[in-house]
Amino acid sequence: MTTEEIKSLIEKALDMRNFSYTPYSHYNVGAALLAANDVVFTGCNIENASFTPTNCAERTAFFKAVSEGVKEFKAIAICGGAEGAEVLDDCSPCGVCRQVMSEFCTDEFIIICAKSVDDYKVYTLPEILPDRFGPSNLIRA
Ligand code: THU
Repeated sequence: MTTEEIKSLIEKALDMRNFSYTPYSHYNVGAALLAANDVVFTGCNIENASFTPTNCAERTAFFKAVSEGVKEFKAIAICGGAEGAEVLDDCSPCGVCRQVMSEFCTDEFIIICAKSVDDYKVYTLPEILPDRFGPSNLIRA
């Protein structure tokens, strides 16, 4: 990916924090998922009074894409931090979101954890989820 493509994805993820529904944690996360067909699916975290139904921003983006028939992806940008705070956190995807990425993404999938368009870290899926349990464990050719 070019630096411009990365920055553009981060901008979309930052914007999505405005839609976060976080009355309990007040921790807003935005995600922008770049599909293989170059369409971007965005997501925010959506909390729930019963806590467990809470959906992370990353999974919101993945589920939007898959529910529209898109199942191949290149990269995701993630931006998270306290609601209203100027400086964002180093927001790394939770274990459940890593497993969802693992279902649909190859080892080349890129995870961009960003505080701003100029301050971000880039990882591959095997770096953040080594020795993953995935579809190949269950689906035989
Ligand atoms: N959260 C995300 O949306 N993505 C992450 O990668 C980490 C955590 C959300 C879930 C919950 O709404 C809030 O952040 C605090 O855990």
